[in-house]
Amino acid sequence: MHILIVDFGSQFTQLIARRLREQGIYAKITPSHATPDFTNAKGIILSGSPDSVLAGKPPPIADAVFAAGLPVLGICYGQQLMAKHFNGKIINQPTSREFGRADVKITENHRLFSGIWQQGKSYPVWMSHGDSLAELPPGFQVIAASPAAPFAAIANDQQQLCGFQFHPEVAHTPHGTRLLANFAHGICGCPSDWSMASYKTEAIAAIRQQVGKDGRVLCALSGGVDSAVVAVLLHEAIGDRLTCVFVDNGLLRAGEAEAVKALFTQHYNIPLLVEDASDEFLSGLAGVTHGEDKRKIIGKTFIDVFDRVAATIKNARFLAQGTLYPDVIESEAAATSGKQVIKSHHNVGGLPAAMAFELVEPLRALFKDEVRALGRELGMPEEMLRRHPFPGPGLAIRIPGEITREKLEILRAADTIYMQAIAEAGLYDKIWQGFAVLLPVKSVGVMGDARSYDYALMLRAVIASDGMTAEVYPFSHEFLTQVATRIVNEVAGINRVAYDITSKPPATIEWE
Ligand code: XMP
Repeated sequence: MHILIVDFGSQFTQLIARRLREQGIYAKITPSHATPDFTNAKGIILSGSPDSVLAGKPPPIADAVFAAGLPVLGICYGQQLMAKHFNGKIINQPTSREFGRADVKITENHRLFSGIWQQGKSYPVWMSHGDSLAELPPGFQVIAASPAAPFAAIANDQQQLCGFQFHPEVAHTPHGTRLLANFAHGICGCPSDWSMASYKTEAIAAIRQQVGKDGRVLCALSGGVDSAVVAVLLHEAIGDRLTCVFVDNGLLRAGEAEAVKALFTQHYNIPLLVEDASDEFLSGLAGVTHGEDKRKIIGKTFIDVFDRVAATIKNARFLAQGTLYPDVIESEAAATSGKQVIKSHHNVGGLPAAMAFELVEPLRALFKDEVRALGRELGMPEEMLRRHPFPGPGLAIRIPGEITREKLEILRAADTIYMQAIAEAGLYDKIWQGFAVLLPVKSVGVMGDARSYDYALMLRAVIASDGMTAEVYPFSHEFLTQVATRIVNEVAGINRVAYDITSKPPATIEWE
């Protein structure tokens, strides 16, 4: 049982799901362009949107949602869509816009406010709207109001419909998580049965069912957290019918292959094949400069290599991947809306359509921090779970432009120094992801009285909770200058170091 969230393109949609899951309530997101599947849904939440209900026709999904007979909560645009559907009036006037903090006064005691908000009192919330509701639809009542939004919260209890003009999902609405939980529990009757222990049990049962009694699974290990958790989960589900394959694609960080081998053989007795395919990958990438082309080539070469390895293992019909929920949401949203693909992450978009494998993707429903929680539930060592994410295409997307062996060597050496410095400063766990990027730019320097003409290196370190948005890590000036000095002194080929101070958005975390 779950709450279905219809995504109208708000930057906060994923937060709604996360807030519910934090309360043990299972939440799924469906793009507004797709045909919704209401199976096992106990209620529906309509997200905000950059669109306006005043422009164009209402999205076709609205009819399906309101005909489903389930409780519905509309947030911001979602509230306006609901009001418009039931013949309320929406306006766009300078006085009806609100951005940032607002105080809402509770005008009615309501189940949504149970245990947190009382009639007659005011509470802070976070608003971000241009349009607003000017006339209630019949059957609705106001349950909270703010100076600029007299309809800050509305409800039609008979039809189990309600709406917030503000955003309960953002941290700036302090009681927002409780409001969402009150909707899910109190109005929808959705239980809090989403826990990693139950997820683990269900995932193991689902793997056993998919793979059958004698199917064998290949698991692509990348050395990252996701694929390691997939491998351990599969091992619990099907024991030695799992074979892990670690492909050395020539695009790994220094010592990566050895570290993965050591971790897997030290802690687990999982069959591990190490396939050195670096020549194949690097020759496929020769002369390729575009990031998306690199991803596609790497995705395809991976599958070719797996095909070869699989041919040596009887019944290996399945390929396990660590695809995560944000990848799935992004890919589905892009597929159904025809919107621009920002990056086709090679786990999902880069895979060739005709594949000899059936995919096993037991993390498809999880956010990154939930994967770590699942790893802990599986008893995995912290050193495995706390590793920074590393992208499937590896260093290929950290060398904008053409990839050469020489550039890879330079980048590896610099990256090692940078990561060592981060660890020595005790900052590794404070950073979501730290790495270096070798720029396709050479510049003039002066080293030991001689002219140098070498590459520039970009350092990047970000704080994030799921990689969808990211802030720059605020290193001290001293730390950065010390790292820069070490890199320029110790790595031949680099004479200039810069620190990337762009958040995501507008930049992405990786450079390609
Ligand atoms: P971006 O660059 O899209 O990265 O802001 C968000 C997170 O995803 C990782 N990333 C990838 N992971 N295959 C992966 O497995 C890919 O093709 C890929 N591209 C980016 C990136 O390292 C960051 O953690």
